[in-house]
Amino acid sequence: MLRAIMLRFVLPIALLAAAVAILGMPLIESLVRHWFSPGADQTVARNFLVVFVVLSVIAIALVAAGAVWILVRRWATLLIRDIRGKKYLDDAESPRFSIPILTQVRAALREAEQKQRLELDYTENWTPQALRHVVEHYLQSPQIIVASNREPYSHERDAAGNVRVQVPASGMVTALEPVMRACSGTWVAHGSGSADHDVVDKHDRVQVPPDSPSYTLKRVWLSEEEEEGYYYGFANEGLWPLCHLAYVRPAFRESDWRTFESVNRKFAAAVCAEATGERPLILVQDFHLALLPRLIRNKKPRATIAAFWHIPWPNAEAFGICPWKTEMLEQMLAADILGFHTRHHCQNFLASVDRYIECQIDYERMTVTAGRHVCQVAPYPISIEWPPAVLARVPDVATSRTHIRAEYGIPEHVTVGIGVERWDFTKGILERFQAIEALLDANPRMRGRIMLLQVAAPSRSKLAAYQHLQQQTRAEAERINTRFATDAWRPIVLIDSHQEPARVFELYRAADFCMVNSLHDGMNLVAKEFVAARDDEDGVLILSSFAGASRELVEALLVNPFDVSNTADAIQAAVDMPRSERRERMQLMRRTVKENNVYRWAGKMLIDAARIRQHQALRRSNRLANAFARSA
Ligand code: G6P
Repeated sequence: MLRAIMLRFVLPIALLAAAVAILGMPLIESLVRHWFSPGADQTVARNFLVVFVVLSVIAIALVAAGAVWILVRRWATLLIRDIRGKKYLDDAESPRFSIPILTQVRAALREAEQKQRLELDYTENWTPQALRHVVEHYLQSPQIIVASNREPYSHERDAAGNVRVQVPASGMVTALEPVMRACSGTWVAHGSGSADHDVVDKHDRVQVPPDSPSYTLKRVWLSEEEEEGYYYGFANEGLWPLCHLAYVRPAFRESDWRTFESVNRKFAAAVCAEATGERPLILVQDFHLALLPRLIRNKKPRATIAAFWHIPWPNAEAFGICPWKTEMLEQMLAADILGFHTRHHCQNFLASVDRYIECQIDYERMTVTAGRHVCQVAPYPISIEWPPAVLARVPDVATSRTHIRAEYGIPEHVTVGIGVERWDFTKGILERFQAIEALLDANPRMRGRIMLLQVAAPSRSKLAAYQHLQQQTRAEAERINTRFATDAWRPIVLIDSHQEPARVFELYRAADFCMVNSLHDGMNLVAKEFVAARDDEDGVLILSSFAGASRELVEALLVNPFDVSNTADAIQAAVDMPRSERRERMQLMRRTVKENNVYRWAGKMLIDAARIRQHQALRRSNRLANAFARSA
């Protein structure tokens, strides 16, 4: 800069001043002589001098302004050239930019460009690295604690006494596990495996995933009575049927509610014991831990709490039958963020809050202000990791097809459908079997030509509704098979045990179509997993319009799961669909799941959490400043 100013500014002015001085010297000399000569007219001499000085100053100012103008124009030209050609991105590109102000402009432009690129990268390509970047740069690496009922890994002792690690069948686990692998931190969950006690340290912690540990699993132990009242009772006989339109009547018992409260307190204590700093980021998962936001807030007022509800939220009237609706809503609203899968669920939640709680709701911004606390309600459609890590352990489509067909004795001419779920009354398994039956009735040509492999992982089997469903499912499969089966073929194969992820993905790859006709589902990640498994861009997805996934996967064959003949028509359409159409639909769905993967789900929530943290810090510093001003 000094050089530029010397060359372009000081030097010309100095030269001009020197020229003026040299040229003016004789004149000044004669004026001085004239001034001091006896009897001279001093006024004339003074006027001459004044005019000379004024003219000199004007001339120097003009030259200086000209020099500055030339300089500024030159800098502006360089800057515009840099902006147009994005040369500011390359430090080596423009060595002339040694002028601090321009160097600063270049640095600011470079920073803005990089930020924009990063955001673009995120929207197009959310990866574990992008998520880590959000944690480090937006959130400044807070301690992250996840709390959920279901644990990501359970340790089970088998009949031979060996300990096996099992990944539970849970949409929540499918989604959160890759996020925790990317972000690290602590996951607090119920230790429900038969060998869970045997593998933890003295703080009830174990490092997971077992093959390459990257985060801590902290287990919370529940007694049988606690599990009975909190998990089976209030959560699964009360809230689960309350939130799903499956027409199973919810059961609410005072004793279950009391246990639900005390177990939530137990989880809150475990979370707070793990939280070392003042401002941890706590991600509360699901309906089992609905009371956690308030309980944690009481102990850690400055924590950032984001709670995500993994199942649908019913309309206000339906929610109204819960005897403890007010208590639940009040405690949930202590979160900073309450997330649901869809906007519709958010609206149902806000309507419930509006009806049952004293508070202020801003529908435009989707915020609820209760007391002085603001809770942001927002949709975050959950998803899966892309590509799923498990695919590395699964044979390709052709091999999977050959394996599975050989295993179940399925000839090439038979079209194979797959269903994978927890054995739950919300999943529409009976309706699925009935749709197969309706198809075989309506189109006898399909007999011997179609087969459904149904994985039903036993779930919540202590409960009467689930036991009844298991009996009904077996009986229905039996009845339909008896009606149609031949020596070489049966329409339904029921695989009634838990299957590990690699096996499930092999089944997805072996199938011609996948049926996800749940009666009601928050999102349904089986639909997204099927799409992720099909890197051959083949396979048809039949999807319930009452699953959250139907908002995104619009290229699936959408069905009303309560309408059996509509579902049967969709199966027929899947069988008849030409390869080109299958490919086109699958390509579009794969793009959707790839872009809207689980890193994006978590990233969006974490970016919102970061914004809220900044606002809170600002409000806090304003409050401190005001308090200081008042006391001064
Ligand atoms: C749903 C719930 C999850 C739950 C999963 C499995 O996806 O939203 O929180 O983990 O079902 O149910 P389970 O009762 O076995 O945990």
